[in-house]
Amino acid sequence: MEAAQALAAKPVIKVAAICGSLRKASFNRGLIRCAIELCNESIPGMKIEHVDIEPLPIINPDLEIDSKYPPPVEAFRRKILEADSILFASPEYNYSIPAPLKNAVDWASRPPNVWADKPAAIVSAAGSAGGSRAQYHLRQVGVFLDLHFINKPELFIQAFQPPMKFDSDGNLIDPETKERLKRVLLSLQAFTHRLRHSS
Ligand SMILES: Cc1cc2nc3c(=O)[nH]c(=O)nc-3n(C[C@H](O)[C@H](O)[C@H](O)COP(=O)(O)O)c2cc1C
Repeated sequence: MEAAQALAAKPVIKVAAICGSLRKASFNRGLIRCAIELCNESIPGMKIEHVDIEPLPIINPDLEIDSKYPPPVEAFRRKILEADSILFASPEYNYSIPAPLKNAVDWASRPPNVWADKPAAIVSAAGSAGGSRAQYHLRQVGVFLDLHFINKPELFIQAFQPPMKFDSDGNLIDPETKERLKRVLLSLQAFTHRLRHSS
């Protein structure tokens, strides 16, 4: 079978994309918009949906009543459960994961842990280290949650280093970075297929 035919025969991979920044003109949200476009234009067999974490309340187990979660949490957990894999795009806050992202990770980890066995990728736009410390913290959290991150390629974007890679609305405008983002998505797609075949 031709490679293109083989790919077409595989079921479409549904990716839930989560942004660690709540900022309107977030660069990381721009990475997710670009990833969605890349999939629509040039990555057959993969669909990305942005899942908003802003409506989630701050984690508090007292909000869990009769094993039910508040409606925004239930909706978020369902999106994660239904996804085949996860794309995180997050800035670094004080050498770690931003609080809204950790909050979302914690809600979806409550029983049953809906992250379990999901393939995942993380990309980041941040300051001088490009978000690498936040990425490695998230990978560490993922160990306990049974999230399986692709190892390579890594994408750390130094958002403030000229020439600017994002416009003032947070859209990714740098062709080379777009190409690197595409390679991350292709790696996530291949890894998701591999994990499916091994189960
Ligand atoms: C509270 C706070 C802490 C930050 N700490 C770091 C940091 O430790 N390392 C870093 O590279 N950038 C840090 N930054 C800068 C952000 O990572 C950077 O502004 C990034 O572009 C924000 O992402 P966004 O455009 O998606 O909102 C921090 C920003 C804020 C608001």
